[in-house]
Amino acid sequence: MKTLIVYTSQTGFTKKYARWIAERTNADLLDLKDAQKKDDVFFAKYDAIVYGGWAMAEKLVKAKWFLDKAPSWKKKRLAVFCVGGSTNDNPQAEKMLQNMLTDEQRKYIKAFYCQGGYNYEKMSVPCRMAMKMFVSALKKKKDASDKDRELAEMISSSCDFSDIKYTDPIVDYLKDSVSLSA
Ligand SMILES: Cc1cc2nc3c(=O)[nH]c(=O)nc-3n(C[C@H](O)[C@H](O)[C@H](O)COP(=O)(O)O)c2cc1C
Repeated sequence: MKTLIVYTSQTGFTKKYARWIAERTNADLLDLKDAQKKDDVFFAKYDAIVYGGWAMAEKLVKAKWFLDKAPSWKKKRLAVFCVGGSTNDNPQAEKMLQNMLTDEQRKYIKAFYCQGGYNYEKMSVPCRMAMKMFVSALKKKKDASDKDRELAEMISSSCDFSDIKYTDPIVDYLKDSVSLSA
């Protein structure tokens, strides 16, 4: 199966996951900006196309390009993966997976989540400000639980929770010869 992984990443975590998946599935790898310059003939040679982006305010960043193209790629194996700061078992991650695709899109696209981290050195100034406000609000929360305080402490400086194990379900899906509708 010839596979293409397209990704967008601000601070490097999604890029790292895209690389891991590409290495494990022998796929080609393209930054979204480069993918947007390619024509239909380029994508025609792939049997599977995956889009990876990071989570911002519970949304998958820059997914529109992939989701607009996906209906014309229904015969291919399609997937999206979202990289966020939440843990894989956090209900927020589950909610994001649910909201990432419509019921119709879910019929031919599979969605995955991988925990990334926070790299404040590489983050844009507006994003860093937004995170500062989020952490401060979490710390000041009146009914803050131990979990909230623990989270605020953990993400108040750069941290890396990425793990290649989170790519296992994506790799299995890409290697599996059974089709999505089966
Ligand atoms: C402004 C902002 C909003 C974010 N919102 C979420 C979110 O809703 N859920 C989540 O799990 N992570 C959220 N994150 C964390 C990022 O998704 C996380 O840092 C991710 O690893 C970044 O990926 P990248 O290194 O590929 O840019 C947010 C980060 C920023 C800067």
